[in-house]
Amino acid sequence: MVKICCIGAGYVGGPTMAVIALKCPSIEVAVVDISISRITAWNSDVLPIYEPGLDDVVKQCRGKNLFFSTDVEKHVFEADIVFVSVNTPTKTQGLGAGKAADLTYWESAARMIADVSKSDKIVVEKSTVPVKTAEAIEKILMHNSKGIKFQILSNPEFLAEGTAIKDLFNPDRVLIGGRETPEGLKAVQALKSVYAHWVPEQRILTTNLWSAELSKLAANAFLAQRISSVNAMSALCEATGANIQQVAYAVGTDSRIGPKFLNASVGFGGSCFQKDILNLVYICECNGLPEVAEYWKQVIKINDYQKSRFVNRVVASMFNTVSNKKIAILGFAFKKDTGDTRETPAIDVCQGLLGDKANLSIYDPQVTEDQIQRDLSMNKFDWDHPIHLQPTSPTTVKKVSVVWDAYEATKDAHGICILTEWDEFKTLDFQKIYENMQKPAFVFDGRNIVDAEKLREIGFIVYSIGKPLDAWLKDMPAVA
Ligand code: UDX
Ligand code: UDX
Repeated sequence: MVKICCIGAGYVGGPTMAVIALKCPSIEVAVVDISISRITAWNSDVLPIYEPGLDDVVKQCRGKNLFFSTDVEKHVFEADIVFVSVNTPTKTQGLGAGKAADLTYWESAARMIADVSKSDKIVVEKSTVPVKTAEAIEKILMHNSKGIKFQILSNPEFLAEGTAIKDLFNPDRVLIGGRETPEGLKAVQALKSVYAHWVPEQRILTTNLWSAELSKLAANAFLAQRISSVNAMSALCEATGANIQQVAYAVGTDSRIGPKFLNASVGFGGSCFQKDILNLVYICECNGLPEVAEYWKQVIKINDYQKSRFVNRVVASMFNTVSNKKIAILGFAFKKDTGDTRETPAIDVCQGLLGDKANLSIYDPQVTEDQIQRDLSMNKFDWDHPIHLQPTSPTTVKKVSVVWDAYEATKDAHGICILTEWDEFKTLDFQKIYENMQKPAFVFDGRNIVDAEKLREIGFIVYSIGKPLDAWLKDMPAVA
């Protein structure tokens, strides 16, 4: 029986290993993590992450061929294939601060693998790591190997949160990069045969190590670039009276461009896009390519611009001040169908409004109060460290209350900001909400999910990203 161990039971490691266990009954899969609370949750009825369909998969194989454990060394020792899916935060100090990946956790994982191994192993890079990390990891493993043979592979994960199980069941492609030596090719085949249990052969792409590593950064950069492109257009639409949804539709019907990933929004979030682009920028700079670095940097700049543009719009519309006004925040997760808040645009928008002394009442169906308070008190880039390193008793943000219902959040509010596209926000009783709000009552729709015309008929002043502006908003221009 082949044994797989995955170090890091997070959003990537957990669902990916659960699906491997489900699809490969002949393989024993152990997911290990240094966080006791995370492993306890994986072994309980309330999993540590919310992901549609995940409970079902875990229930079917947990205790049979899927195990969650904190005994990292034992499972690494026993494994034939070790996946590494640990945090790769952006460095906040020293060389490359604000851009380069901090590989501390990766390096210590590699040293530990070398320490405890007594048999040959394939080590699979599952975290997003800068190009050529595999080379560094390979060196650590080789220099500490005591004669044991390690093969390092890069197998980047392309799942998107909220649809992780669907993406894992039916991936567009699985990418495996390895050394082009006989041993390297053998290792690639071994990993390929794991995925071949359920993924059609033509969708399993094999490349060299560097291509696999770079493809992951490139794919995320391209995706983020599409959103920044449509968001840049949304600003122009507002200035000219065009409608971004009509423009995006017209553009997306060109089969060369395609219709997906063209929704204008308050900005992209999530653990990958910004971090991966910063990495790409850093790699370009290190390779003497400042023009290329500058090009990709713009994707992040537009994203930051979009978030601050939204805040400015809110403040400008409300007579240039939100001081002591109650603003309801509907949605805090970085997208619907996840409780994940890493790099969510809601953090920047909330901090912007708090900077103008607003009182916030936040509701999200999946994010806990503790998480929201922690996010709003955390320094930039600090989120990507193992849970136990994060502040456990954050400074309470006094001007923020977290409530468990959209009606409670909007009661007596002056304005509503919709920051996540949760389906339940589409069917809210806005007549009832309007009656319980201060007047004039504002809705700022950062995800274009409400029927703006219907809301205007009720009496709301409505701002929708990239849509023709109400007369009110035209009279109150947002000055950057
Ligand atoms: C992770 C990385 O964060 C991301 O940079 C990479 O691209 C893919 O892998 P994700 O699974 O979403 O993504 O992260 P997270 O949910 O934070 O999980 C990482 C887990 O690794 C945490 O549970 C953490 O406790 C664990 N970990 C970290 C270890 O077990 N050992 C370590 O030394 C460090
Ligand atoms: C992304 C990639 O899609 C995935 O392949 C990779 O493995 C990890 O990074 P994820 O971050 O989970 O996945 O979600 P994604 O659906 O890509 O959304 C990222 C952000 O972009 C979200 O904040 C989302 O709301 C935003 N977005 C997405 C838009 O603003 N407009 C769109 O049209 C699509």
